[in-house]
Amino acid sequence: MKVVLTHPIPPPAVELLEERGHDIRVGPSEDPYPPDELARLVAGADGILALLIDRIDDAVLDAAGTQLKVVANFAVGYDNIDLDAATRRGVKVANTPDVLTQAVAEHTLALLLAVARRIVEGDRIVRERRFRRWGPSFLLGVELRGKTLAVVGVGRIGSAVAQIAEAGFGMNVVRVERGGLGSVLEEADFVTLHVPLTDETHHLIGLDELRAMKPSAILVNTSRGPVVDEAALVDALHAGELAGAALDVYEREPDLAEGLAELENVVLAPHTASATIEARTAMSRVAAENIIAALEGRVLPSAVV
Ligand code: GLV
Repeated sequence: MKVVLTHPIPPPAVELLEERGHDIRVGPSEDPYPPDELARLVAGADGILALLIDRIDDAVLDAAGTQLKVVANFAVGYDNIDLDAATRRGVKVANTPDVLTQAVAEHTLALLLAVARRIVEGDRIVRERRFRRWGPSFLLGVELRGKTLAVVGVGRIGSAVAQIAEAGFGMNVVRVERGGLGSVLEEADFVTLHVPLTDETHHLIGLDELRAMKPSAILVNTSRGPVVDEAALVDALHAGELAGAALDVYEREPDLAEGLAELENVVLAPHTASATIEARTAMSRVAAENIIAALEGRVLPSAVV
């Protein structure tokens, strides 16, 4: 059957799909396509292996055709896919959970440490030849041990972050379900977000939540950009209502809210939390396995719908 990979991805997806005799087409670009180009690319596909930069909506599903059976996202998040539109057409949707949990959890702690210990600020100082001498009060950060970390969203990734923070750094972790932010924000020294993007989690962290946080607090977001009101975050950081932030994701990715890049007390990563060789290889395998299962009429290893 015909399988379209919207963009090139690491092995072994192509090999696994070819082993099953499927006819593979790989989209030419690593960049997102204009909607009409994506529509042309997927025309006639029985299975689509999509990236989170592809918006899979009614128009794209229609363009694929009624033979389409499955869309396998090369990501754990699937807010780029209109699930209702897929369900209406009987198209299965799958993601790549579990295999990227460790990568994202480690990256989250890396970002948290980077802000707490001002690693990127220090790097800039050294590169720009502004490092003159060791100094007793130079570039002071804060330690993690004994500090309160609010983990918002305690699914696979949030739970892994909590476990590393407790066992590895001796942090006092408060596990917060999506709806229960309450007074946790007022007590937390660090807040890290691990919720999927839905209507309910859009701007979960807005002006009021940022104001509720301690002026010494640090926010980390490796979930989805729109979970944080990015303009409000810039204002809060400017106003000293928050000590720092580390972001891997942005509200209008890859664009940044005005003023964000000019702040010293933020660490900005280019949506690379799952970017390890281990995770991306496994994601490639899982995405292919989902397509293979769907095309053979078997239960998908990680179906979303
Ligand atoms: C990355 O953002 C993912 O959802 O896998």
